[in-house]
Amino acid sequence: MILVTGSTGLVGSNLLIDLIQKGFTVRALYRKEEQKERVRDVFDLHADKTLKQFEAIRWVKGDILDIGFLAEAMAGVTDVYHTAAILTFSTRHAEELIINNQQGTANIVNAALQNNIRKLCHVSSVTSIARNIQKEVITEESPWKSVRNQVPYAVSKIESEREVWRGIAEGLNAVIVNPGVILGYGDPRRDSGRLIPSLSRMTRLYTSGITGMVGVRDVTRAMIMLMESNISGERFILNAENVSYRRLTEMVALALGRPRPSIRIPVAVLEAAWRLDHIRSLLTGNDPFIKKAVARSARERTYYSGEKITRVLPFQYTPIEEVVMEVCRQIRTAKDL
Ligand SMILES: NC(=O)c1ccc[n+]([C@@H]2O[C@H](COP(=O)([O-])OP(=O)(O)OC[C@H]3O[C@@H](n4cnc5c(N)ncnc54)[C@H](OP(=O)(O)O)[C@@H]3O)[C@@H](O)[C@H]2O)c1
Repeated sequence: MILVTGSTGLVGSNLLIDLIQKGFTVRALYRKEEQKERVRDVFDLHADKTLKQFEAIRWVKGDILDIGFLAEAMAGVTDVYHTAAILTFSTRHAEELIINNQQGTANIVNAALQNNIRKLCHVSSVTSIARNIQKEVITEESPWKSVRNQVPYAVSKIESEREVWRGIAEGLNAVIVNPGVILGYGDPRRDSGRLIPSLSRMTRLYTSGITGMVGVRDVTRAMIMLMESNISGERFILNAENVSYRRLTEMVALALGRPRPSIRIPVAVLEAAWRLDHIRSLLTGNDPFIKKAVARSARERTYYSGEKITRVLPFQYTPIEEVVMEVCRQIRTAKDL
C-alpha cells in the first residue's frame, strides 16, 4: 500500500495517475471534497485515464498536522510519497505556513519511522539550496540556504527538508527531490497552477529573469523511479532546463496562437507594482496579487543543474517547449483560460 500526501495538489494529483496506472494500491490523503473533485478533472484531461482508474484511489480525509490521524493513515503502508505543503510566496500567515510545512513533515517522518515503512520520497524544492558563490550553476552539492532573510515559504521548505535528513539519520530509508518551477495543469487559484494562465493573459510582456523549470510528469516519473531504485539518503535537483521568462512567455504565446512577447517590463515598474499592490492588500485585507518575492524572482537569473538523476538512472527530461504545449492544451480543454 502506498500513501500519497498532498494528493489534491499539482504534484500529488499527477502522481496518482502514474501510480494507479502502474497498478499500485494507493491511499490518497485529502482535506476538502471540492479539491478532491479537481483530481477527477486532472484524470479526465488524460484521455487514457478512465473513471475506473480514478475510482481505484482509496481516499482518506485528514490533515498531516493530526498525529492520531497519521498513525491510522500509515497502517499497512509500505511506501510514502510526501508532497503536501502550503505553497505560497505571500508573507501573510508566515508562522502558520512554516508550522504547517515543517511540523507536517516532522509528523510524516515520525509516523514513517514508527511504522517501519519501506521508503519515503519527500518533495523539497530548489528553494532549499543556496547559490554557490564560486560556481554559477547550483547543484545538489551547493550549500544549504540560510533561513535568514528568506520568504516564509523558503524557510518552511528548508526546515522541512532538514526534518527528512533528521529522519534519515534516525534510520529512515528516504530520498529527496528538489524540483525547480514545476509546470503542469493545476488549480489556477493556487500559486502552483497560476504561472501559465497568468502568462497567457499578457503574452506581449516579459521580464528579464531566468530559472530552472521541469514538467510535472517528469517530477512524478522521477519520484517513482527513485522509489523503485536502491538509492537512499540522497537529494536530486529536478530541472529540465534553465528558461528565461521571455522564452517561457514565447512558448505560451506560440501554443495559444497569441502575439509574441515584445515589451520588457522594466525593473522599476516591477518594484513599483509589488509595493502598490502591497498597500492595496493592506487596505483591503486581500492577499497581494503581485508578491514581492515573485516580482524579485521575475528578474533574477538563477541556473540549476538537474543532471545528477540522469547519471544514476535511465531518466530523461521532457523538453520544456513540449511541456508548455501540453499544459496549454490541458488548460484550454479544461476551459481555465
Ligand atoms: N509547484 C511548484 O512549482 C513546486 C516547485 C518546487 C517544489 N514544490 C513542492 O512540491 C510539493 C507539491 O506542491 P504542489 O505544486 O503540488 O502544491 P499545491 O498544488 O499547492 O498542493 C499542495 C497540496 O498540499 C496539501 N496540504 C497542504 N497542507 C496540508 C496539511 N496540513 N494536511 C494535508 N494536506 C495538506 C494541499 O491540500 P488541500 O488541497 O486540502 O489544500 C494540496 O493537496 C510541495 O512540497 C511544494 O513545496 C512545488
